Amino acid sequence: MIKICGTGSALPAHTVTNDDLSKIMDTSDEWISSRTGIRARHLAVEETTTGMSVKAAEQALEEAGVKAEELDLIIAATLSPDHILPTLACEVQAAIGATHAVAFDLHAACSGFLFSMNTAAAYMQSGVYKNALIIGAETLSKMMDWNDRGTCVLFGDGAGAAVLRELPDDGTNGGLKAFVQYSDGARGGVLACGNRPVCHPFASHEPENQYVTMDGQAVYKFAVSTVPKVVTEAVEKAGLTLADIDHFVLHQANQRIIESVAKRLKQPMEKFPMNLQDCGNISAASVPILLDSLNKNDMIKANERIVLAGFGAGLTWGAAVIQW
Ligand code: UT7
Repeated sequence: MIKICGTGSALPAHTVTNDDLSKIMDTSDEWISSRTGIRARHLAVEETTTGMSVKAAEQALEEAGVKAEELDLIIAATLSPDHILPTLACEVQAAIGATHAVAFDLHAACSGFLFSMNTAAAYMQSGVYKNALIIGAETLSKMMDWNDRGTCVLFGDGAGAAVLRELPDDGTNGGLKAFVQYSDGARGGVLACGNRPVCHPFASHEPENQYVTMDGQAVYKFAVSTVPKVVTEAVEKAGLTLADIDHFVLHQANQRIIESVAKRLKQPMEKFPMNLQDCGNISAASVPILLDSLNKNDMIKANERIVLAGFGAGLTWGAAVIQW
């Protein structure tokens, strides 16, 4: 069985409330909180994507009782690494001394942690690797246009990690039970961020917008229509019903999206934990940070069933069912 054996997370020390934002731009706590549920977010000042990832990774390894040298795989999901090269996963590998691991980044935006976990699980199912470190980490604050109040108020910074192990079956039928994942590049334009233009002695292209742009309503409609379907599909694939699920740990983009998913799935809101009030949307980091806070606060009991679901730029979306 493939099991999450440890989790960890790290958030920047500096908290910025909606009221703080309203002092520097034309917005209000009323607008942000009524439309999204977000009241504050942590923004990196001294912290880095790699530094927060290392902290989260060390906590996850400690809880799992796994030494860094025992890792054979590190996958880091991020759209905001500190450097283009080397990769975040390789920087973490060096910092923690995971000398026997292969390390690489996986970029699937807000579905990144989920897709990384599924990728690690596929390696494990085929017998290639046994001990994996999965990271979701972002400093999204540097990707935002701070003159665009429609996007910059939504996002935050932070990192989460989990240690995934291939263990002998202990008779509980636990661990990862099923996953499904999708993408639709044809609709990718609704949530985008440009890169540096081609510029060399033989060609010079106009720079693209290097900050995140979003058609909020299109992303909203995409989320509320696809997430219930993909969650239902993953639960059915696991041979379970929605009533069998104890916690739905969804990507933390917007409280109204989560409420709409709960309503469409006919499941009570108590099963949908949230941290977006204090953290905003941290893309690939939101699911592992929330999972770690549930774990650390003893809110998940042994053998409880959890759905993890991600959705976002690409477009990408997916869900996994795990038994704790
Ligand atoms: O990981 C996935 C990430 N993305 C998402 O989850 C986004 C999903 N979408 C949403 O959450 C919502 O679409 C938003 C919260 C982003 C926006 O809510 P909305 O109800 O769709 O608002 P809107 O974009 O239609 O804007 C309504 C008004 C506009 O003013 P006018 O044109 O009606 O005068 C905006 O200019 O609200 C204005 N507005 C703001 N006002 C105060 C936009 N941003 C702000 C702001 N403060 N921060």
